[in-house]
Amino acid sequence: RSQTKHFSHTFSPIWLYPNLKHVYHFINEPKSWCEARSHCRKHYTGLATVSDMADLERLKQAADGTEAWIGLRNRMKDKEWHWSLPGVEFKESEAKDRWENGEPNDHNGLENCVHLKEHGKWNDNVCGTELCFICYNGSSTTIIQTPLNWTAAQHYCREHHTDLLSGLDQLNSTNFSEMCWIGLFKDTWVWSDDSNSSFRHWEQGDQHLTKGYTHDNKSCAKLGPTGQWIPALLCHKLYMITFFLLSCVCAEVFILVKENKTWEDAMDYCRHHHRDLAWFDTPHLQGMVQKRAKMADSEVVWVGLHYTCFFEEWIWVNGHYVPGDDPNWKKRGYNDCGVNGAMERGGENKWVKKPSGDKYNFICAERC
Ligand SMILES: *[C@@H]1O[C@H](CO)[C@@H](O)[C@H](O)[C@H]1NC(C)=O
Ligand SMILES: *[C@@H]1O[C@H](CO)[C@@H](O)[C@H](O)[C@H]1NC(C)=O
Ligand SMILES: *[C@@H]1O[C@H](CO)[C@@H](O)[C@H](O)[C@H]1NC(C)=O
Ligand SMILES: *[C@@H]1O[C@H](CO)[C@@H](O)[C@H](O)[C@H]1NC(C)=O
Ligand SMILES: *[C@@H]1O[C@H](CO)[C@@H](O)[C@H](O)[C@H]1NC(C)=O
Ligand SMILES: *[C@@H]1O[C@H](CO)[C@@H](O)[C@H](O)[C@H]1NC(C)=O
Ligand SMILES: *[C@@H]1O[C@H](CO)[C@@H](O)[C@H](O)[C@H]1NC(C)=O
Repeated sequence: RSQTKHFSHTFSPIWLYPNLKHVYHFINEPKSWCEARSHCRKHYTGLATVSDMADLERLKQAADGTEAWIGLRNRMKDKEWHWSLPGVEFKESEAKDRWENGEPNDHNGLENCVHLKEHGKWNDNVCGTELCFICYNGSSTTIIQTPLNWTAAQHYCREHHTDLLSGLDQLNSTNFSEMCWIGLFKDTWVWSDDSNSSFRHWEQGDQHLTKGYTHDNKSCAKLGPTGQWIPALLCHKLYMITFFLLSCVCAEVFILVKENKTWEDAMDYCRHHHRDLAWFDTPHLQGMVQKRAKMADSEVVWVGLHYTCFFEEWIWVNGHYVPGDDPNWKKRGYNDCGVNGAMERGGENKWVKKPSGDKYNFICAERC
């Protein structure tokens, strides 16, 4: 039995993945992490990826206190630096002048978190160390003198401000030189859908950051009852043990609606229940839409492409113009009064024209 809960999106800051919103579906069927990933890939986009606090809130609502797999996995090598604030990219080139001489030295291989030193230079240190820390609140930075370990400092800043100070823009606007934590950390975790989201929400008691190990062979992550994340040891089916069968949360950005409607009724439905009929402007997003189309029960599915007789142009539902000779057309898109754009269930990722009154399944988008 599959229990699906659906939540519409809330607003999140526009600087963050301006186009993508995750819709979470809680699947109440115990599975190993690998089985859960296959299930979510088959029926949705994939296991849940979390990009920010707004995503996290919706994820928590979807799972409602039940432990569930999410899409984070541990590749157990090649630690990478990240800023705590989602959407701020860490660039090696910008960082090279910032380190104190001889740093980062990953003393004993255990120093995964960064604090400031004299002149604002950086030092990597053991994350369990208790230090003052600097929060960013959306427009300014504040130093908090109460010493906390790095994870606790991150939780504090996210609760009372926005996040730990992240990125050179924020650093440049300040002159701090006290030995306080900033939002720079490194880890070996990656999202199973290749999202580069740096958002993490480990439980505060988790020793992994303190110790600096690659999580002691723990290779996947679950959502704990309070919404904090917990690394898990036995993720592969091979090691399946009853108590490692958990429910999972799947995520998707494009939603297939398995009802047959005319193009206009489909658009109304999407605008009412989601954001709009699907529109997409990159091969990656188009691939995601095609993946959803494969699960339709009609031959083709409507997407948000329509032809306006008045302007004699193809446009997306968001108003963007589409050339009639765009290579994504299966056949050219000229002179098409009374037709709209669709994708074929068994097709090769191309757009096709269909009479507007035909009734098909359709794909909505959850986008800004
Ligand atoms: C993620 O990757 C995209 C494309 O490579 C890049 O534009 C973006 O800044 C990256 N985001 C982060 C947080 O690294
Ligand atoms: C951030 O802090 C400043 C100074 O304390 C305050 O004026 C501002 O309203 C705060 N902004 C947010 C978004 O909380
Ligand atoms: C921050 O300041 C440094 C040195 O003053 C400068 O090289 C760098 O371009 C600045 N970075 C940003 C993002 O403003
Ligand atoms: C940082 O300190 C220098 C020298 O004291 C000063 O010129 C500069 O305006 C300060 N910058 C900020 C952002 O406070
Ligand atoms: C960090 O501090 C919090 C709160 O003081 C504590 O619960 C937690 O166990 C500490 N975490 C680590 C990894 O030391
Ligand atoms: C992790 O796995 C490796 C290789 O299987 C093993 O040698 C090592 O002891 C394991 N570490 C822990 C902490 O279980
Ligand atoms: C939609 O139409 C297809 C045939 O095009 C049909 O197989 C399917 O059962 C229809 N779905 C619904 C929900 O009526």
